[in-house]
Amino acid sequence: MSLSAVEFARLNYPRFLDELKALLRIPSISTLPEHKGDCRKAADVLAAELKRIGMENVRLIETEGHPLVYADWLHAAGKPGVPADMSSSAGWKPTVLIYGHYDVQPPDPLDEWLSPPFEPTERDGNIYARGAVDDKGQVVAQVKALESLLAATGKLPLNVRVLLEGEEEVGGEGIASFVASKPPELKADFALVSDTELFAPGLPTLCVGLRGMIYTELEVRSARSDLHSGMYGGAAPNSFVSLAQILARLKDENGHILIPGFYDDIIPPSKEELAAWKSLPFDEEEYRIKEVGSKKLVGEKGYSVLERTWARPTVDVHGMPGGFTGAGAKTVIPAKATAKVSMRLVPGMTPAKAFALYKSYVEKIAPDGVNVDVRLIHSGDPCLIPVNNPYIQAATRALHEVWGKDTVFIRSGGSIPIVGDFDRHLGLPSVMMGFGLPDDNLHAPNEKFHLKNFALGIESLIRFLEEAAN
Ligand code: BES
Ligand code: MN
Ligand code: MN
Repeated sequence: MSLSAVEFARLNYPRFLDELKALLRIPSISTLPEHKGDCRKAADVLAAELKRIGMENVRLIETEGHPLVYADWLHAAGKPGVPADMSSSAGWKPTVLIYGHYDVQPPDPLDEWLSPPFEPTERDGNIYARGAVDDKGQVVAQVKALESLLAATGKLPLNVRVLLEGEEEVGGEGIASFVASKPPELKADFALVSDTELFAPGLPTLCVGLRGMIYTELEVRSARSDLHSGMYGGAAPNSFVSLAQILARLKDENGHILIPGFYDDIIPPSKEELAAWKSLPFDEEEYRIKEVGSKKLVGEKGYSVLERTWARPTVDVHGMPGGFTGAGAKTVIPAKATAKVSMRLVPGMTPAKAFALYKSYVEKIAPDGVNVDVRLIHSGDPCLIPVNNPYIQAATRALHEVWGKDTVFIRSGGSIPIVGDFDRHLGLPSVMMGFGLPDDNLHAPNEKFHLKNFALGIESLIRFLEEAAN
């Protein structure tokens, strides 16, 4: 008797986990130039793996940054995007574009990791490593779903294209220009994105909205060069103090962004969506204590935490390079101060307009006597996914079978810039089916992937691909 794909996955799970660990050992940190070679290595490993399992036309696609990995398998009946002719539609199968990213965030602060970030370690039902859940574990789950289907049945139930990128964590410019060129390799009917999380453990979840973002650098120059703070202090402007004054005027103490016009174009969530969010199992105190670990939560009055993180824009400061940061003391007035500032955008807002409003506001409020320079590093559009399509329905059927529960629809405050582009340039609705957990420590020390979610994730993806073909 032949095995089903799910049975194949269960039997081969130990090997699947070993292969995930091998990928996690590669420090493919996209933002650090010294890891350029590691990014390519991760891409090579994934390409070799896709070839081994029987995917075709496997290749790296070069970009100005790290390479894309492409593969396809197009032997199910039907041409992508053409269900049109009813007489021949009987055997028609859709084409899915499977997306994930192999790049990871930097691991610092290193001394807070209980085991080294690039030595994957199993502990209490989790695998700990940078990239475990974001996004290597989920990419491997996708590849293992394909492997299980191919190995158990000799074919795939629908046409499949795979497109992996290595620059998601730095804005995804390479994939954006590739997608914008509408290449024939990306002709498909829908996208499958596994880079999101479950709303709660054991609760099958589809993500249907993401915030967009602009990531900027704000530089303040206050003097010809660094100055002795005793000789000049009191007379010379201080770049860091000026920078702090600007930053303090981006938001008021109620979390309201003070940039004129910033909120003008926002499309608020519908009544139905807001009602659905209210019925999600969410305990604000538990969130504050267990996930955030702060004395209180901040943010706009009159909005729930879910609204504030999913449907309202925000501003954050990530770091302030410059000045004296060594041990001990140095009495200097730094001539230059920089802040890395990002803003999350919600549906209705565009990165171009948000940046223009922010830049002119900063130039207007900059203290007299200093020069400011506001630079855009990268940006991505927000997105909102329509849910009334057969692929979302297929996903909820598959998830119900594997998890034994009805799917909840959520948004996420994070950004995956290419998802909006799939819609805008290729007309593809995305199914964002991911298996992270809220406490997986994305971008933080001790990132993990819950091993049960890795296993059930593979099964969910197998069943989804089967259901999407019906
Ligand atoms: N996978 C995340 C985004 C995410 C996190 C979605 C949690 C859903 C739930 C992604 O890798 C990410 O971190 N994106 C960056 C993008 C940015 C650098 C353009 C982000 O959101 O900061
Ligand atoms: Mn990710
Ligand atoms: Mn990420």
